[in-house]
Amino acid sequence: MTAQLLNGKQLAADIRSRLKEKIAGFAAAPGLAVILVGNDPASEIYIRAKQKACAEIGIRAEAFHLPENTSQAELTHLINRLNNTPEINGILVQLPLPRHLNEKEILLAVAPEKDVDGFHPYNAGSIIQKRAGAFAPCTPKGILRLLDTTGKDLNGLNAVVVGRSQIVGMPAAHLLLNRNCTVTITHSHTQNLQKICQTADILIAALGKPEFITGEYIKPGSIVIDVGINRTENGLKGDVNFAEAAKIASYITPVPGGVGPMTIAMLLENTCEAFLKQHRS
Ligand code: GUN
Repeated sequence: MTAQLLNGKQLAADIRSRLKEKIAGFAAAPGLAVILVGNDPASEIYIRAKQKACAEIGIRAEAFHLPENTSQAELTHLINRLNNTPEINGILVQLPLPRHLNEKEILLAVAPEKDVDGFHPYNAGSIIQKRAGAFAPCTPKGILRLLDTTGKDLNGLNAVVVGRSQIVGMPAAHLLLNRNCTVTITHSHTQNLQKICQTADILIAALGKPEFITGEYIKPGSIVIDVGINRTENGLKGDVNFAEAAKIASYITPVPGGVGPMTIAMLLENTCEAFLKQHRS
């Protein structure tokens, strides 16, 4: 292995301890509402991890675990109530929602100033328009923090994003563009994906296919960010074949211990920011 590890676990721990100190100086504990509809096992694991991280640094996480058959009106009603509860500073609706619910409408119901996931169209649009003070989605925000630990100037680098989800791929591409990278967004219809990836100084793999990105996709000396969390028969796997990529890249994130812990750290950071903004106004 020649690549240096981008240690998200350590960086996230540092961020959490700084946030804990900051919160200790607040007049009240920030409040985060965590909404889960149904019993998706992966979502339950993520939600528990988010609640635990909140408790450790002094954020009051209030969990709302609603049954699978919750209606659009019931969920919207809960969100409206939380929008109007001053002790709740952030609202997180864990995705994916059950199929009968209209996800876009639900995300629109969250007050933008409490949208700590950055999924409301106001916050998503604010990233594109470079409006200050908007919430950036947690995973892409965490990716940028990891990139900054390399100390490299991102200006003018070729960034290739594999995957165009609203949660990761699209916002990651915009954040990289805002840092003056030349960004290519690729997806399941992209032709010559391997050739395009070979041009990437920064490769963001967020396609959700275990070890899809093999050594042949990697440009020598590049930075490889693996967003994949795939539960396979052989354990947890990223979207990148780590053993192959680590021989070619200069920096790489491990799975687990790379992007995952950063997503939670950025949720905590956004919740603190939401608290401060709401207490300033
Ligand atoms: N599902 C997968 N990732 C996320 C995330 O970052 N936030 C929420 N709310 N749901 C998700």
